[in-house]
Amino acid sequence: MITVGIIGAGRIGKVHAENISKMRDVRLKTISDLYVESVVPWAEGQGIENITNQYQEILHDEEIDAVLICSSTQTHVPLIQEAALCGKHIFCEKPISFTIEDTMEALDVVKEKEVLLQIGFNRRFDPNFKRVHELVRSGQVGDVHIVKITSRDPAPPPAEYIKTSGGIFIDMSIHDFDMARYIVGSEVEEVYAQGAVFIDPVCKEVGDVDTAVITLKFKNGAIAVIDNSRKAVYGYDQRVEVFGSKGCVSVENDLPTTAKLLTEESVATDKPKYFFLERYKEAYVEEIRSFFHAIKYNETPLVTGEDGYQAERIAHMAKASLRANSPVQCYKKKSLLT
Ligand SMILES: NC(=O)c1ccc[n+]([C@@H]2O[C@H](COP(=O)([O-])OP(=O)(O)OC[C@H]3O[C@@H](n4cnc5c(N)ncnc54)[C@H](O)[C@@H]3O)[C@@H](O)[C@H]2O)c1
Repeated sequence: MITVGIIGAGRIGKVHAENISKMRDVRLKTISDLYVESVVPWAEGQGIENITNQYQEILHDEEIDAVLICSSTQTHVPLIQEAALCGKHIFCEKPISFTIEDTMEALDVVKEKEVLLQIGFNRRFDPNFKRVHELVRSGQVGDVHIVKITSRDPAPPPAEYIKTSGGIFIDMSIHDFDMARYIVGSEVEEVYAQGAVFIDPVCKEVGDVDTAVITLKFKNGAIAVIDNSRKAVYGYDQRVEVFGSKGCVSVENDLPTTAKLLTEESVATDKPKYFFLERYKEAYVEEIRSFFHAIKYNETPLVTGEDGYQAERIAHMAKASLRANSPVQCYKKKSLLT
């Protein structure tokens, strides 16, 4: 039995809590949120034993083996550091932080205290993308030449969120940067980003974009092209294609049903699943299972702090490239492992 606590009971914290509540070999003992009153009815419905606004209760509870950090991004670094100092294994949502320096500081403490850290790149646990990864790894596509990732949200987040999100690259594209690295299996050496504001003028006010195309060049020669939009009117558009020397593998959008209506006028299917909570429902369960598996067998998690660092490094390179309107070759240390 692994005993866990969750810090942050917002959108994603609730998803993890609900998934863990259904797992037989894991006990979700405590959940903490700043606005505890609004969380109580939901948490009681989930059968969670303790609800508190003091996250320290989780970190200093000797029965608790691991903590899930699901609070807002600016809290991640101090919480990772405190949790590691308390000897807790850590699952932390993406991104680790808004700056490379802060992320490096957090990872230093994790390394020193020898606790496990998994970062919330849930898409790696999606059965479709996992299969793409397996096919590429087993050589069936040959040498990877081109990776194309389409990742478009159905609707932009509220203005307040955009203002504090850290920008599209660190908030949204970061999942795609991780997916590209995961598939290619090499590190990014050059980033060229272009962007525009087509959807939400707030983005312009805060120096952000809502539409972007990013090209990544990898050390092993592969090229990835990622396109992002904060608003696809037809729903959450999540597609991947990998083209190589021996062939090509692709993943199309997940639809709620496979029913297809054919008439004299047109052929119609369902629209893609609406957003990440629907599309990655299964992946959120699998990533948490995988974290607990790593704890149980003392294995390296499938998404490490280094993975979090690398995706953030690409995000910062993309931001620098967009500003300079030119490709960017290097940003800080190439790896924390060397
Ligand atoms: N992997 C994914 O698919 C995914 C999806 C959504 C969000 N996220 C990430 O998860 C994090 C949270 O996002 P969200 O959308 O759930 O945000 P949210 O605003 O819905 O929830 C955050 C919660 O954290 C609480 N909180 C903040 N500081 C706290 C503290 N010190 N102690 C306890 N609770 C605290 C807030 O009260 C709030 O309820 C962000 O870093 C975001 O980038 C990841």
